Amino acid sequence: MVEKILRAQSLNKSYRMSKKLRLDVLKDVSLEIEANKISVIVGASGAGKSTLLHLLGALDRPDSGKIFYKDENIFTLSDNRLAKFRNKNIGFIFQFHHLLPEFTALENVSIPQMISGISLSDAAKKSKELLSSVGLSDRMDHKPAELSGGEQQRVAVARALANDPQIIFGDEPTGNLDSKNSEAIHQLILELRDTLKMTFVIVTHNPNLVKLADKVFEIKDGKVFI
Ligand SMILES: Nc1ncnc2c1ncn2[C@@H]1O[C@H](COP(=O)(O)OP(=O)(O)OP(=O)(O)O)[C@@H](O)[C@H]1O
Ligand SMILES: [Mg+2]
Repeated sequence: MVEKILRAQSLNKSYRMSKKLRLDVLKDVSLEIEANKISVIVGASGAGKSTLLHLLGALDRPDSGKIFYKDENIFTLSDNRLAKFRNKNIGFIFQFHHLLPEFTALENVSIPQMISGISLSDAAKKSKELLSSVGLSDRMDHKPAELSGGEQQRVAVARALANDPQIIFGDEPTGNLDSKNSEAIHQLILELRDTLKMTFVIVTHNPNLVKLADKVFEIKDGKVFI
């Protein structure tokens, strides 16, 4: 049986620009995300892809509508509990890696674990395993500026995996990379789906990633099409 890890029901989101002007970005959007699959979200610039991803990833709340993770109705949680839920269950990879410049690759992957209460030594052990799994065992002591763009993004993938999330969201994770480094990240995503049974939801303009995806959602005029 296919497991639905996440169900979004009738999401509405608008941005109020002035008393008279309201921008309706998502209109009654419902969708389901299957576990252990790569789902991608495509659509024109400004169509609402990032807005949708932020709702699905619990970084923002809708004006109305619900999101269920398995059976948990997440927007009924307080902001504090929602943040805890996010730290425990959700990983993010963004277009720009957002690594902390002062810290090494190893520290960047360890810090989120330590924030969730894991000891320094356990976090470091796990971070070493994760960095090895993304092919960076010989770059652990490099700071972001001492890594290539592709390597920085692989650190960001390792960091997204650090708290053993149920699901990883990516907003243009290869948008800033050349084709060779983009392909390496795509292969890594496939590998993580198959080895760790990870679930991915990724906004992308990259046709190669769309081809590799198990499911494609298109946003147009505030609606989502499969
Ligand atoms: N905080 C905000 N306040 C007002 N308008 C916003 C806000 N965030 C986004 N918008 C508008 O909502 C629409 C959807 O934005 P969104 O960032 O979701 O688009 P997108 O599909 O991710 O585009 P891109 O491919 O360019 O990243 C855009 O027209 C944008 O200008
Ligand atoms: Mg966007």
